[in-house]
Amino acid sequence: MKRIRVIALLMVIPFVYFACNGNAEKEHKIVDHDESQVKEVENYDPERGLGEFDESNVKLGPLDVAMAEKGERIAQTKCMSCHKLSDERLVGPGWKGVTERQTPHWIMNFITNPDPMLDVDPELQAQLEMCLVRMPNQNLTSEDAREVYEFMRKNDGVK
Ligand code: HEC
Repeated sequence: MKRIRVIALLMVIPFVYFACNGNAEKEHKIVDHDESQVKEVENYDPERGLGEFDESNVKLGPLDVAMAEKGERIAQTKCMSCHKLSDERLVGPGWKGVTERQTPHWIMNFITNPDPMLDVDPELQAQLEMCLVRMPNQNLTSEDAREVYEFMRKNDGVK
């Protein structure tokens, strides 16, 4: 009888151990997350955002029709479930006029890696409050981003 109790106890120990460990892990993550929420990026430039694109590596000319077409295909599979081409909001803001509101490098930096900018950019924080959804990373390459941007220019009437 005693032996059975000991065995039962031994079987319970690992569960207790892992349960506590699991909690510790969770608490740790919450703390990490809070820290990243209040993180301030020094010298954040709201015209540029965070990422590889800036004035020196984005060159714009007349509309590149082939590039805009590729961008449209990417947008249809990865973006149009949340964004309309008009100025109406769906899940996120409508795209009409976005290339006039934001610089090309801001847009391309944001769409290749939304998270770091969502944490610090004043305009994005305001949108986040209104939309209540955090735009997910859609895994665009730099090239994809440039093509989607060309499609946005076309949508804004660039010829
Ligand atoms: C699940 C919904 C969702 C998907 C998919 C999505 N977005 Fe967004 N997007 C949002 C939301 C919501 C915002 C507003 C900011 C926030 O709350 O995260 C936003 C904001 C933006 C903005 C800033 C708009 C402005 O007016 O300043 C751009 C640009 C943008 N998204 C582009 C894209 C592109 C390009 C794709 C596809 C590669 C995409 N989004 C896919 C939800 C989405």
